Order: sequence, then C-alpha cells, then structure tokens
Amino acid sequence: MKVHVYKDAETAGKAAGLLFAAQIIRKPASVLGFATGSTPLPAYQTLVNLYEAGVLDFSNIRTFNLDEYAGIDRSHSQSYYRFMFDNLFSKVNIPPESVRVPNPAATSLEAECAEYDAAIDAAGGIDLQILGIGNNGHIAFNEPGSFPFGTHIVELTPSTIEANKRFFDSADDVPRKAISMGIGSIMKAREIVMLITGANKAPAAAAMINGPVDSACPASILQMHPNVTVLLDSAAAAML
Ligand code: PGA
Repeated sequence: MKVHVYKDAETAGKAAGLLFAAQIIRKPASVLGFATGSTPLPAYQTLVNLYEAGVLDFSNIRTFNLDEYAGIDRSHSQSYYRFMFDNLFSKVNIPPESVRVPNPAATSLEAECAEYDAAIDAAGGIDLQILGIGNNGHIAFNEPGSFPFGTHIVELTPSTIEANKRFFDSADDVPRKAISMGIGSIMKAREIVMLITGANKAPAAAAMINGPVDSACPASILQMHPNVTVLLDSAAAAML
C-alpha cells in the first residue's frame, strides 16, 4: 500500500480527485468505481471543477457505485443514486445510462446482485475504485465478521446505523438493509484509492494499514491488493 498523509480533509480529497482526473485523461473510456458518504465530496468537487475548466470529458466514462440502501427508492433524499447525481453526475457530461448504482426497486434483489457483478465484468472490470472506510472498518456495506465475495444483500450493523443516522430524521429512519458490492467485487478493481479523513477514523485506519488481515476489519483485506493508494488527513493518520 502506498500511504500519503495530508494536512486536512479538503487536501486529501483533492488528491483523490486528481488521481481520478489522471485516470480519465489517460483512459477516456475508463470504468470508475464510486462511493458515497461525506468523505469523497472534496474529490467529487475537484472532478466537477476540472470538468468546468474544460480539463475532463466524462462522455465515455462508465461508473459503478459500491452500494445502495434497500427499502427506499431513488427519489429519496438519502438514496445513494440521488447522492451521486446531486454531487457529481448532474454536474459533468456523463450520460445517465453510463452510470449504475445497485437498484433497490428490482423485482428480485438476489437477481439484481448477480446481474450487478456480471455487468461490471461485461464492462471490462473497474479501472479505478474510490473507497471510504467505516468507523468499524467496513468497506461499502461489508461489515466486520466475514469477507463476502460478490454483490449481496446485507443487514446493517447497529454501528453503521448509528453512524448514518445523521443523514436521517432519526436512527429509526435509517434503512436496515442494503445491497453492497462484495469484497471480491472490490478486490477485482485494477486500482484502488482509499480516502480516510477525520479523527474518528484513526483506529480503523491503523487496523487497516498495520493490523492483521482479519474480517474484524474488512478493509484490512486491501493489504492483499497489488495497487492501493491510501490518502489520509493528519487526524485520521494519528494512530499509524
Ligand atoms: P463517511 O462514510 O464517508 O460518511 O464517513 C464512509 C463509510 O462508511 O464507508
């Protein structure tokens, strides 16, 4: 793993955005893996700024998002589909049909999971994937305790419900289930950028980078990936 520490979250996010920008310039038909959450927002803003400056063209880009809540539809203010349009897709020239987020309204969620992995493979695999990490070490909604391989349906843990309730009226409103790319789906990406910011992420960052590869910290599996760049702010790097 390559590890870079920046002075603050804004700067680390900008660096992540620049790695994606370089990927788009090098390969205009890249397949990109995107993540939601508050961490990647400065990275997405960097991409929007570079698009507006005429540096980036998204017309041949295809994207896959890591995960989506089940039980709320795409018009819900907290759906990850809506998040991606609000923060990135509606602000650049990516064709809407080129973006894919797991569909919680699919008639069969099991079929949607299988089809999602097949669609990633059919697109040629993900060239560059951005990840965030949960306080409990999760990546996407792959919660501690196992390393599920493919895209699957998950029950959110109490810790993730607690962490995400800030986006909802109350913890009771946080969906209990989600569709998530598996650890195997994520590890198949050719290159991964892990962005970690904030003092609350310091223990998870240390477990991921310095701890054993153990499903107690699902992100620790990234130690086995050949091409991972970890970008942290100084607060998240405090326990390294
Ligand atoms: P956050 O979420 O960026 O909102 O902290 C990251 C995650 O839970 O994976």
